[in-house]
Amino acid sequence: MSHASSPAAESPPVEAPMGLLMELTHRCPLRCPYCSNPVELQRAGEEMDTATWKRVLGEAAALGILQVHFSGGEPTARKDLPDLVRHAAGLGLYTNLITSGVLLDGASLAVLADAGLDHVQLSFQDVEVESAERIGGMPGAQARKLALAGQVTAAGLPLTLNFVVHRQNLDRLPQMIDLGLELGAGRIEVAHVQYYGWSLMNRDALLPSRAQLDAATATVEAARARLKGRMVIDYVPPDYYAARPKACMGGWARRFMNISPAGLALPCHAAETLPGFDWPSVATGSLAAAWYDSEAFNRYRGTAWMPEPCQGCERREVDWGGCRCQAFALTGDAGRTDPACALSPDHGVMLAAVRARGEVPAEFIYRQYGPAKTVPVDGTQVR
Ligand code: SF4
Ligand code: FES
Repeated sequence: MSHASSPAAESPPVEAPMGLLMELTHRCPLRCPYCSNPVELQRAGEEMDTATWKRVLGEAAALGILQVHFSGGEPTARKDLPDLVRHAAGLGLYTNLITSGVLLDGASLAVLADAGLDHVQLSFQDVEVESAERIGGMPGAQARKLALAGQVTAAGLPLTLNFVVHRQNLDRLPQMIDLGLELGAGRIEVAHVQYYGWSLMNRDALLPSRAQLDAATATVEAARARLKGRMVIDYVPPDYYAARPKACMGGWARRFMNISPAGLALPCHAAETLPGFDWPSVATGSLAAAWYDSEAFNRYRGTAWMPEPCQGCERREVDWGGCRCQAFALTGDAGRTDPACALSPDHGVMLAAVRARGEVPAEFIYRQYGPAKTVPVDGTQVR
């Protein structure tokens, strides 16, 4: 589907988004220090109601969106999740649940399966129980996750395991892959931490070494060859050791749309923290208007906005200039070339962060509502 509205006369027509990430809530029992939610978390009273989310789902289907990801926070904290899944399935949308798994059991999963859920993506913080529960900040979480994985496959639902990897768990990547096989996952996503918001505050606790990264890359390559046809391994490498950036979200406002709990439409999960934007609300306006007509979505769409060196670069329609949120986080200007690119005049800030990486990980600043607190790496006390 295309639309007449486009940011510049010479630009190609804007295509409909492929996927919609619905962040139903920021509430979550876990406290991961790399959480992709904004540092200022929205509270339950600010969340959109069931009827409004259903209306958004209807607009998504009409817009040509194919996949809906129910996310959070922890989306199963919303009592109306089965109702929303049933509504989405009835509209012909492919439904994926992105969950930490700690609030679900066999019975509540069966309700979701009956509602038409197509896929479950279950996150793990580590394979080693003590480490996993320290990183997630929730005692008892690992057993619940392991139990849920069994219930997902028993229900006949496809399962993806998600591991966010960093200096404090990356050495156990081979065991993570083994766990994926053991639990019957068809896919495992190994994603290095991307540094904005909570994770940027925790960069010194999370940034791996070059040696750790090289070992992980070799592990992934060997496992992909060994497990071909049995399990897919998606791998998101870390920007801090890259020479070229990733095409964040497949390019700004090109393929994906996020909706925050309060109904702000965003081109990615971190955009809400960018200053100087008037984000469109789907609580008061339509999804189509947000996608096609809003200044916020059109600002960095395509290539016309790009500064040099992107403007003259042959990769400008490959990586779309990298990540706007990372450019803002590291340079204070979301319109600059992503510093992950070695051609960026700001690439030095990334190299400097790697050089400044301490031998000992910094204390975690856990995700939470209100003022942030730090915790030593052994997790024994809160300051
Ligand atoms: Fe990508 Fe811009 Fe770097 Fe070229 S200069 S590789 S378009 S970030
Ligand atoms: Fe926002 Fe990359 S996370 S553009």
